Amino acid sequence: MPNILPLELKDVSFEINGMRYIKEIDFTLNAGSNTVILGPNGAGKSLFLRLCHGLVSPTDGSINWHGTAAQKPGNYQAMVFQKPVMLKRSVLANLHFGLKCRGIPKIKRGPMIEKIIEKIGLSRLSKIPARSLSTGEQQRLAIGRAWSLEPEVLFLDEPTANLDPAATHVVEEIINSIKKTGTTIVMSTHDLGQARRLADNILFLYRGRILENSSAENFFTAPKNDLAQAFIKGELLWWHRKKLKPPAELKTHH
Ligand SMILES: Nc1ncnc2c1ncn2[C@@H]1O[C@H](COP(=O)(O)OP(=O)(O)OP(=O)(O)O)[C@@H](O)[C@H]1O
Ligand SMILES: [Mg+2]
Repeated sequence: MPNILPLELKDVSFEINGMRYIKEIDFTLNAGSNTVILGPNGAGKSLFLRLCHGLVSPTDGSINWHGTAAQKPGNYQAMVFQKPVMLKRSVLANLHFGLKCRGIPKIKRGPMIEKIIEKIGLSRLSKIPARSLSTGEQQRLAIGRAWSLEPEVLFLDEPTANLDPAATHVVEEIINSIKKTGTTIVMSTHDLGQARRLADNILFLYRGRILENSSAENFFTAPKNDLAQAFIKGELLWWHRKKLKPPAELKTHH
C-alpha cells in the first residue's frame, strides 16, 4: 500500500503582509494517532491545518511527506473545512463530486457512496439539496465526502463547531469509525471535552506557536506550559479581557 506519512514540518513560519501568523513550528505527524489542536480564536489552528494539507505554502521552513507515495500527497489526504463547502446539488451529487475529482469512474462510485451515506446516516436524505440540510447534517456530509476518498490522513477543522451535544456525539462516533479504518486524524476543536474524548496527542497553539505537544494524558494531567494550564482551566480569556499583566511567556510570544 502506498503511504505518505510521516509528515514533517521544520521551522515553519507563515507570514502575510509582514505579520507572522505561524511561528517556527517543528512537528512530525506519524501514522495511527489522533492529534487534536487546541488554542484560542486566532491562534492559527486553521492556518496550521491548511499548511499541513498543502493549501498554503510556508514563507519559511519546510513541509515534507516522507512515505512511499510522498510525491503525490494530494491523493492520500483530505480536509474538511471549518465552514463546509457544499455544491448547490443533492447530497448524492455532492458525494459523487468528491470521488469524481479523484478520477474514480461512475460505475465504481455508486457502491462506495452507498456504503458511506449509510455510515453518515444520510441515506434518507440522499436526494435533497445539500444546502437545505441542517448544520449537523451538512457537517456529516462534508466528513462523509472526505471519508469516501479513503484518505491516509484526514484534517478536520472544528468538525463540531455550532453543533448541539447530540449532533456532536454523532459526529464523534463517525470520527471514531474513521479512525478504526486506520486513517490518521488531525483535528482542531474548541471543545475540551471533545479533546479528552478523542485525542491521543494534543498540540496547543497560541499566537502561531506550538507551546505544547504531548500525549493527551500528559496534557490534561500535567501540562508543562502555563498558558496551556490556564487554557484547560478556562482562564486564558481573562488575561485578554481584563488586560492583566500576562505571564512572561505571553510577552515573549508577541
Ligand atoms: N489570508 C489571510 N490574510 C490575513 N490574515 C490571515 C489570513 N488567514 C489567516 N489570517 C490571520 O491568521 C490568524 C490565525 O487565523 P486562523 O484562522 O488560523 O485561527 P484559528 O486558530 O483557526 O481561529 P478560530 O478558532 O477562530 O477558527 C488570524 O489572526 C487571522 O486573521
Ligand atoms: Mg479556525
